[in-house]
Amino acid sequence: METYQYKFDYNVYKDKRSLSSVDQALINEAAMTSQKAYAPYSKFKVGVSIRTTDQTISSGANQENGAFPIGQCAERVALYSMIQVHGRQPIDTIAIVVDNKNQKTPASPCGSCRQMLHEYRSHQTTPIRLLLSLATGGEVIELYDVKDLLPFAFDGLFLGQ
Ligand code: THU
Repeated sequence: METYQYKFDYNVYKDKRSLSSVDQALINEAAMTSQKAYAPYSKFKVGVSIRTTDQTISSGANQENGAFPIGQCAERVALYSMIQVHGRQPIDTIAIVVDNKNQKTPASPCGSCRQMLHEYRSHQTTPIRLLLSLATGGEVIELYDVKDLLPFAFDGLFLGQ
């Protein structure tokens, strides 16, 4: 028997002002986008902005529905928007901003969005960095690569892709 270990580093910044101006702009864009959320049921507004390696920005907000399961997370709205507007580009950084009065710490993507992010990551060689924060400001969590959020992921390789 052999034992393996999986671990990853991430950073927590006290404030977004410790980040570069392009990262701050991306977080600001995601915060503005969170106001486009349609979240009358959860009141949990999420805005996501994606910066590609060639510096294009695409955004999306969660869209809920009275038939709960068909609602769509902000991450996926943003990814689909990127594809429609800019085409498939390598992604550099994704900012995820939550606007919810009960949420005191930044939130990270749900399992389904991790799987979807993994799909995009598997088509590029470079990492996809994540910046997580609240619309009200405060700490920013920086993850080096979405891969870290889904170890042992299922992906197209299993299907011969
Ligand atoms: N939500 C997102 O938009 N992204 C996530 O990664 C987690 C959850 C949305 C879905 C739903 O509209 C609300 O947040 C509460 O779950």
